[in-house]
Formats: sequence, C-alpha cells, structure tokens
Amino acid sequence: GQDVTILGLESSCDDTAAAVIRAPAGERPEILSSLVAGQAELHAAFGGVVPEIAARAHAEKLDLVVEQALDQAGVALRDCDAIAVTAGPGLIGGVLSGVMCAKGLAAGSGVPLIGVNHLAGHALTPRLTDDLGFPYLMLLVSGGHCQFLIVRGPDDFTRLGGTIDDAPGEAFDKTAKLLALPQPGGPSVEAEAAQGDAARFAFPRPLLDRPGCDLSFSGLKTAVLRERDKAMEREGGLRQADRADLCAGFQAAVADVLAEKSRRALAEYLAVAPAAPAFAVAGGVAANKALRARLEQVAAQHGARFVAPPLALCTDNAAMIAWAGAELFRTGRRDGMELSARPRWPL
Ligand code: KG4
Ligand code: ZN
Repeated sequence: GQDVTILGLESSCDDTAAAVIRAPAGERPEILSSLVAGQAELHAAFGGVVPEIAARAHAEKLDLVVEQALDQAGVALRDCDAIAVTAGPGLIGGVLSGVMCAKGLAAGSGVPLIGVNHLAGHALTPRLTDDLGFPYLMLLVSGGHCQFLIVRGPDDFTRLGGTIDDAPGEAFDKTAKLLALPQPGGPSVEAEAAQGDAARFAFPRPLLDRPGCDLSFSGLKTAVLRERDKAMEREGGLRQADRADLCAGFQAAVADVLAEKSRRALAEYLAVAPAAPAFAVAGGVAANKALRARLEQVAAQHGARFVAPPLALCTDNAAMIAWAGAELFRTGRRDGMELSARPRWPL
C-alpha cells in the first residue's frame, strides 16, 4: 500500500476519542497518538449511558480531543491524507457530533473525509498490530455487539451469526448490577468468578440446541436473577460465597456458549480454505482471561492461529477508526460532504 497518515474520530457510544496513525508503505503502522475521554462519571448516577448527555459531552469535547491528538502526534491537519470518522452504527447524537466535527475539519483544511463503520473498525483492528492476512475469522464481543464475521477485506465481511438479544458485555454488566458489584461489570464479575464454584448453579446454555452461530444472552441474566433471589431467601441475604458462585456459574455459561459457537464458526470459515487460518477476537469482553483461554484452545483445536489485539485497542478507541480509514483509503475510498450519520449500519 501507500504511505498514509490518518486522523481518526470516534464518538458512537460513551467515549470521545481521537487518534493519529501513520502507515508507511510496506511497514507496520504506527499509532502516533490515541486519546480516549470517557464519560463514565457523567452517566454513573443513571445506571447506563444517557444518549442526550452523551451527545452533548461529545460535542463539547471533540474539538479539544482532536487538537490534543494532532499535537501529541506532532502532525498538522493539512498533512493528514484523510479524516476517518465513525459514521455509525451507534447513538445518533454522538455519531452526528463526530461526523459534523469531521466535516468542519475537512472543509477548513481540504483533507478528504472517510466514513467508517464502527464494527469494521473493531474487526480490522487485529491487522493494526499483527501481520494478519485476509480472510480471517473474527468474534466481535463487546457491551453492544456479538457477532462472528469472516473478514475478507477492508470493506468485505460475511456475517455468520450473532446475538439475537443482549450482547455478552451487557449480560456481564447486568449480572454485576444484580449482585451489587461495581460497573463496568465485566472485570468485577471476572474477579468474583475466580473465587467461585462454577458447578454450583446450573445455568442454561442458550441456543446450543439450534444449528448455526446465533447466540442469546438475555435468558442467562434472568437465570442469575432467579438464583440470586433463591439464595437470598434461603439465607436472608447474599453471602460472599453465593456471589462468587453465581459469577463463576454465569461466566462458565458465557464461555461454554461462545466456545461452542466459535467451533461452528471456525468450521464454516475453514470451508472457505484460508491459506493461513486465523481466529481473531475484539471488543471489551475479549479482555476476559478465562474466556480468552477457552477461545484460544478452540482455535488451536482447529489449527487456527489465535489473535487478540492489546486491551486498549479491544475497547472503543479512535486508533481503530484511523486504521480502518487507512485500509479504506488504500482501496480508493473517499467520502464527500454528503456523508451522513447512520445509527443503524450492518456490516
Ligand atoms: O468494546 P467495549 O469497550 O465497548 C462497547 O461495548 O463497544 O466493551 C465494553 C464491555 C462492557 O460491557 C464490559 O463489562 C465488558 O466489555 N468487559 C468485560 C471485561 N472487561 C470489559 N467483560 C467480561 N470480562 C472482562 N474482563
Ligand atoms: Zn465498540
């Protein structure tokens, strides 16, 4: 490919992020800066992301975050080859704030715009830090998403299946809430699970009886609620050991389901006869060590290399948007001022 420098903007959920990457021809790309300004404290009191508050905060913070990202990178806007911005899917207010900010920057500098699908950003991230060739299998597993994709090119994805209700991260967060553990729920449930007995509670393994790669996690959360209430009734409160056992049982159920569906996805993927089979994961839930170990094992059993980007690139960030922008730029993609925000945008 060509030598490119890209500014990336991300504002589709509750993180305002900007990054600059440089991708020299024939060499590993380099993240020159990557800033993420979270909004957790703004939403904490509401028990979830409030779209209106998120949109306002993005609009207020974007200019500064972009300026800092350029500063830290030591790159002037006019020296960028493109401005890549998340154009969806996500909360409409945040996506609009990002797209409007990017259009302002493009209009002022003459640098072209590239609208990036947030999911494509996650899905292409493994190639930012690893010498990973197309096609690879991707499990995108976060607070908002859960899907299996065959990634064939920067703009060429085949969806093999995904959740029909909640995302696993959402189930971790809701489980934490039910057990009065701190948010985000993933890390706190994982820590509790390490002390618990996964076999004590018999949680369901939803959709394993159904063929294909679709998943479901909402029933699991209901099962946690039911078992919690039973335990509390028995003992007049929730004991530490109950909490740990509930977390361990829940996490084991999520891991079992994801491992089995990954086996099926790998079988479908291997049928397209990739030269160097690889199974990559991305998204915040991919930070879970127990889960990672299971998926790594499944990949090994199928003779596929397991690829997991560093944690800071697994969760929402703008370097992944800049990188997706670089990949698209090299295919000739440029968007004009008519670029629109798309709250829904399947790959
Ligand atoms: O990718 P991400 O930062 O944001 C989006 O959802 O796009 O993912 C956040 C989600 C949260 O639901 C969080 O609880 C979950 O990832 N998470 C984890 C762990 N760390 C973060 N889930 C399970 N185990 C973890 N260690
Ligand atoms: Zn995301």
